Amino acid sequence: MQIDEISKHVGKTVDLRGWIHRIRSSKGIVFMALRDYTGIVQCVVKDGIPGFKEAEGTGMEASVSLEGKVRKDERAPGGFEVEVKDFKLVGPSDNFPIREFQSPEFLLDYRHLWVRSQKLTKIFKIRSDVFGLIHEFFRKRGFYEMQSPSLTQIACEGGSTLFEVNYFGQKAYLTQSWQLHAEAMIPVLEKIYCIAPSFRAEKSRTRKHLAEYWHAEAEAAWTDHEGSMKLQEDMVSYVVQRVIKMRKKELRELGRDIKKLEHIKPPFPRITYEKAIEMLKKDGIRRKWGDDFGAPEERVLAKHFKKPFFVEKWPKYSKAFYMKESGDGKTVLCDDLFMPEGYGELIGGSERETDIKTLLRRMKEFKLKRKPYEFYLDLRRYGSVPHSGFGLGIERFVMWICGIDHIRDTIAFPRVMNRIHP
Ligand code: 4AD
Ligand code: MG
Repeated sequence: MQIDEISKHVGKTVDLRGWIHRIRSSKGIVFMALRDYTGIVQCVVKDGIPGFKEAEGTGMEASVSLEGKVRKDERAPGGFEVEVKDFKLVGPSDNFPIREFQSPEFLLDYRHLWVRSQKLTKIFKIRSDVFGLIHEFFRKRGFYEMQSPSLTQIACEGGSTLFEVNYFGQKAYLTQSWQLHAEAMIPVLEKIYCIAPSFRAEKSRTRKHLAEYWHAEAEAAWTDHEGSMKLQEDMVSYVVQRVIKMRKKELRELGRDIKKLEHIKPPFPRITYEKAIEMLKKDGIRRKWGDDFGAPEERVLAKHFKKPFFVEKWPKYSKAFYMKESGDGKTVLCDDLFMPEGYGELIGGSERETDIKTLLRRMKEFKLKRKPYEFYLDLRRYGSVPHSGFGLGIERFVMWICGIDHIRDTIAFPRVMNRIHP
């Protein structure tokens, strides 16, 4: 039986399995808080019952299996207590290394054990739901799931954050995005999506950058910049609305103010990059045309919005080569979707350039070698159609939904600049 079903079994004998969350003994009685993936319940093991000696001799995080009678008990945390009749030690644990008040670095060294913590358990449940709901959203909309290779020879988002690997003696990279291969699948399935790891050799240590993160990406034929933004706001709203219904308890226990998520529904406000620069100026932050936004700009802009907001039409040299030009000579048809409350960029998306001449000119401007991109150019040579796509960083999404202040706690084994173990 699971611990969260205990209230339905008052007065009855139940079997429970799990791990010892906390344990203390006094005068022939062992008190243990037993944990499984659904919750925690207090169990009492008295001298004389089978297994008492093992219970008395074991420690935090031992795995156990027990049989006992459920009692209502106002004093017990959670309101119930199990009087154990039979106790079995499954896997002993002596001197569990994690105690109260450990430093963040220590907890990262012991990440393989710290993942058992109550806080991370709640976040991982929400993370799992976010993955499931993204799949659900796209499949309901008639999108096909499609995968692209993680090993490639081309840069999608520029060379500065590529991880190089030795591919049988040839230089290759870990992918930054599925996009360039995804575009080859546009004439095949038309509406596609995927959830896969993307890799960025981010040399900065920030609260929202991982070297390996999970990327939810979509690409759709016959869809323009407007249509893409509509899809983005629908997807984000769908996931947020479903999660706050399914995980009210976990969100509350994480201290999340659910009110701040309840109104996340389309449409999301839209401003141009130009307007964003003006707004920043009014707020005392001077940025020149072409500057990217970092955490301070994101925070200041977010003060003006209660929902996620699009900043669209960025200067063409500040964004990737594949984005379609707006026609004003200086911007491209792209959007960054920023989260409210200062959580920063969630999505990057754009309409794609379909004209081969323009694309070749753009590649020259970006000083890209043509050879590795020949396959991508073929897509413009043979039956190109208007299409758009976007990518969402799942860890950033989970960070905002849960209201936590560091991206590392949204993933079990975070990969950041100074850490690749465990
Ligand atoms: O804005 P980005 O770089 O866009 C692309 O990769 C496009 N090719 C996507 C597409 O159009 N298919 O990345 C998309 C999102 C960002 O908005 C951010 O949420 C997330 O990916 N992201 C990161 N998340 C965690 N750690 C990092 N180092 C990230 N870099 C980007
Ligand atoms: Mg971006």
